[in-house]
Amino acid sequence: SFWPVLAAVAAYLVGSLSFAVIVSRVMGLNDPRTFGSKNPGATNVLRSGSKAAAIITLLLDTAKGWLPVALVAWFGPAYGLREGTLAMVGLAAFLGHLYPVFFRFVGGKGVATALGVLLGVSGWLGLATGLIWLAMAAGFRYSSLASITAAAMAPVVYLLAGGPLWETSSAVALSIAVMTLFLLYRHAENINRLIKGTESKLGKKAPPPV
Ligand code: G3P
Repeated sequence: SFWPVLAAVAAYLVGSLSFAVIVSRVMGLNDPRTFGSKNPGATNVLRSGSKAAAIITLLLDTAKGWLPVALVAWFGPAYGLREGTLAMVGLAAFLGHLYPVFFRFVGGKGVATALGVLLGVSGWLGLATGLIWLAMAAGFRYSSLASITAAAMAPVVYLLAGGPLWETSSAVALSIAVMTLFLLYRHAENINRLIKGTESKLGKKAPPPV
């Protein structure tokens, strides 16, 4: 059937909505691709000084990962769609965020969108992984370090906590592992800065673009 492919394409398009760029534009803020880490994500929007814009970006980037997965979980079975499609749409939304068709394929790191995917797979999985992020962010004040740790832990948490109905699906496990690899790869510059001691602390404002 063509439903899995259609669902994945739709999820990729939704994932391609780079809300850091869209929200900043709507709220009259500088484009997050021009200052700070230059990353279109909630962390860098926060460096503009607008907490509201950062929170809205975080919520929308998370929602776009959650929604496609939740829709497949709810309505998929009626169309013969199961964990394989669920895993695929989650990955498609995530890859849309990293390589957005609407923004010349230059996207973000995928932390919020991956969290949304995890929440769609299982509320407990998303909650536990989100708490790892929060604990690390509270302890060390680096968004990137919190993201790297949460990303590395996500597959472990999934294998422990399971997915829908507490059953673990190998397709979902694989897509979570692939997200982890992309997340670590996209944080390469952050890892270098953390090692050099030049990473910016969470919420520290960036000088505006010249
Ligand atoms: O949202 C990605 C976060 O982990 C790091 O963002 O802007 O500090 O590179 P940034």
